[in-house]
Amino acid sequence: MSDSPEVSNEPVNNGLNTKLTSELKGIQNEKERAQEISVKEVTAKDLLELDRIMPFGPKNYHQERLKMQQDGKSVYLIARNGTELAGHAELILGGPKESEVKESLSDIPEINGAEVRPEMQSNGIGTQIILAAEQAAREKGYKQICLGVSEKNPRARALYERLGYTARNLPRRSVTTQSGEQFSVEYLVKDL
Ligand SMILES: CC(C)(COP(=O)(O)OP(=O)(O)OC[C@H]1O[C@@H](n2cnc3c(N)ncnc32)[C@H](O)[C@@H]1OP(=O)(O)O)[C@@H](O)C(=O)NCCC(=O)NCCS
Repeated sequence: MSDSPEVSNEPVNNGLNTKLTSELKGIQNEKERAQEISVKEVTAKDLLELDRIMPFGPKNYHQERLKMQQDGKSVYLIARNGTELAGHAELILGGPKESEVKESLSDIPEINGAEVRPEMQSNGIGTQIILAAEQAAREKGYKQICLGVSEKNPRARALYERLGYTARNLPRRSVTTQSGEQFSVEYLVKDL
């Protein structure tokens, strides 16, 4: 009788296989998740959920944005990952009201308040929201679109630049928060 180990036809499972399988599953899940993202205009039915799950910003934030949309001044977009609320942004149709850029960007719609739930970020949802806002602007006949981004938010800026937004030497807006923090906001523009 030989001492050599029995040869098995079973696949070797040395831990690497398990790791690769779970990584492949991860990629698959990521793809499936990305395919489930939908972006639509906010309706009154979404308000309770927005207030409950994404209550960032001042009181009545979502209600006021819905009212602006109803008044024809904006398009308020909500993103869902499957059925779950994932994020929002508004497209303000009149252009930025800030004095520094009001003239240069007059009548260029502005993407404002883009926000994705922290636990759902980096899954392509922000990208889908921006693309939907651009589509809404195109459908309304606009040839350009803009947004302001804080110098303290390089990740968001990198995302916008990847999507084709560029700085056009516009004056920066200086912001001081209630807690005394100071930063500048620069407007980026994209040709549609
Ligand atoms: C900025 C913000 C809206 C972007 O939303 P997001 O869903 O994270 O954006 P995306 O996933 O589309 O893209 C961002 C990142 O995901 C990556 N990504 C894009 N599609 C992806 C996909 N299908 N799978 C995995 N990653 C993806 C991008 O390469 C990018 O990489 P990074 O995280 O290394 O920078 C979000 O981060 C947010 O809410 N931030 C807090 C509020 C804020 O800063 N708002 C902007 C004000 S100007």
